[in-house]
Amino acid sequence: MCGIVGYIGNKDAYPILINGLKRLEYRGYDSAGIALINGETRTYKCKGKVSDLENFVANQDKSGNIGMGHTRWATHGEPNDVNAHPHISLHGHFTVIHNGIIENYDVLKRDLIKNGYSFKSETDTEVLANLIEYIYLKDEKIGVETAVRLALGKVIGAYGILVAAKQENNFLIAARKGSPLVIGVGEGEYYFASDATPIVEHTKSVIYLDDDHMAIVEKNNLMLKTIHNDLLEPEVKQIDINIEAIEKGGYDHFMLKEIFEQPSAIRDTFRGRVSERHNRIYLGGLHTALPKINVAKRIIIIGCGTSWHAGLVGEYLLEEYARIPVEVEYASEFRYRNPIINEDDVVIAISQSGETADTLAAIKLAKEKGATVVGVCNVVGSSIPRETHAGVYTHAGPEIGVASTKAFTAQVTVLTMMALMLGRERGNIKADLYLQMIKALSAVPEKIEVILKQADLIKELSAQFTNAHNFIYLGRGVLFPVALEGALKLKEISYIHAEGYPAAEMKHGPIALIDEKMPVVVIATKDKSYEKVVSNIQEVKARKGIVIAIVTQGDHVIRNLADYVIEVPDSHEAVAPLLTVIPLQLLSYYIAVARGCNVDQPRNLAKSVTVE
Ligand code: M6R
Repeated sequence: MCGIVGYIGNKDAYPILINGLKRLEYRGYDSAGIALINGETRTYKCKGKVSDLENFVANQDKSGNIGMGHTRWATHGEPNDVNAHPHISLHGHFTVIHNGIIENYDVLKRDLIKNGYSFKSETDTEVLANLIEYIYLKDEKIGVETAVRLALGKVIGAYGILVAAKQENNFLIAARKGSPLVIGVGEGEYYFASDATPIVEHTKSVIYLDDDHMAIVEKNNLMLKTIHNDLLEPEVKQIDINIEAIEKGGYDHFMLKEIFEQPSAIRDTFRGRVSERHNRIYLGGLHTALPKINVAKRIIIIGCGTSWHAGLVGEYLLEEYARIPVEVEYASEFRYRNPIINEDDVVIAISQSGETADTLAAIKLAKEKGATVVGVCNVVGSSIPRETHAGVYTHAGPEIGVASTKAFTAQVTVLTMMALMLGRERGNIKADLYLQMIKALSAVPEKIEVILKQADLIKELSAQFTNAHNFIYLGRGVLFPVALEGALKLKEISYIHAEGYPAAEMKHGPIALIDEKMPVVVIATKDKSYEKVVSNIQEVKARKGIVIAIVTQGDHVIRNLADYVIEVPDSHEAVAPLLTVIPLQLLSYYIAVARGCNVDQPRNLAKSVTVE
């Protein structure tokens, strides 16, 4: 969603803010703005990208050692100059940037209007700025900090905010409820951001704000409180992200870099957890929850988008190997449908960002009902790992491209490890099969490297489909979620309509769509459904559809049937999702690039969806 950046210290704030906004732009990119404080507060904001903001302020006064910046993903009000943040209160006392949604903004706004306030923008953020000011001006003796606290007490919804006050302009106030905020700790300086990416080049020491916490920050001092005014001891943590991980490193796009990083990302996911030598998989993060998981009557997997697809793969594998019944739900549906959750249920919440609002709300609901909740997350220190009883980090490294790639394969890797580890613990997998599976899993990074060598071939092939209007993706069993993921990747970055279907379902409806213009991507590697998928390909060809088949190396049968084939190395069926998704990621990437789409920042999307 929106990205927040801030600075207070002795350095010029502007370069820190503008570079920080560039690093955060993946979170939201419809407008951007900054406020610089140097005795007075100067605000510059405009519709468009951070580069538009940079041009806009090129000849302006950029001095100031205190400042804040914001890159927006519109929720209230269309993307334009006026709705861009920062927002200044009516009488100019407060400057605010905000990530999240203030749900009762309308009621608050009407009250403020009755009290003489008028509004320039359509945003909920301007309501908050005016509310703080209104409370402050009613009794200036209460001071800035109390005014902010009292205003936040009236807000329903989610926020991560930075507030600057004209009358006391030597500090910034940061507060959080539901929307992430990290504070970087330097020497006589502090950095603020919605995630650590803009901070790592300045300091590795950070404080993660928790919900209902606020920090009152001067350049040499940080005071942490609850919004009920209880003083807290800040906990400074060290982050383990290097600068290369958040740069493109010679690739045209983050997405391409992240696709190519998958062999190393999966090795990082394995590290210290999978040992061929000891014939063992061990996920230490599950340790405390294992007694509950082992006797669980049911596992419920929740997630959104790509993480939900990973969950579907997990369902197949956990049922197959751990023999525990699994249900997979969209977190956004689960949280609102009064689900039956028992104390002997285990909920696995999957999320790259660890900040997805729907997933967080679903976790809270599951906890309230007494379930044990386990997280599978990529971003260390994010909200979901802090909300869950136990969990496993995917360790894929920062994923900046909005379309998830390496996070998906890392999530599937964790779920595969989980299924095998539980299967073994519960006595469902014999030692020889266990070793065979460990070997199959360990060989995945190398096999992905082989697939990545075909990138040029896939690029060439994708040129045939630059002008396609629709795509169908088919897969069976554990490869059906991969079909869904392939379709999602294409939709989100190329804006071509695509649908994923279980191959056998095609004849129940989607087959009506097939004609000589319809590309059909079929995931058809050699497994127990192979013969049936071959029949599905024949059905598509009989209706003149264009078949692009993902096949096992050396498959001559499908090569003779399909229009195009992309080969993946032979592997155990259980790890096929990790291999077959790679060509689908590359296919979408090259089609989107050929169509001139902004691959890393597709229209209307944001990397972490911290609003409902
Ligand atoms: O950070 P999360 O994994 O919780 O995000 C969930 C979805 O928003 C995310 O997977 C989204 O669908 C991606 N854009 C997919 O590429």
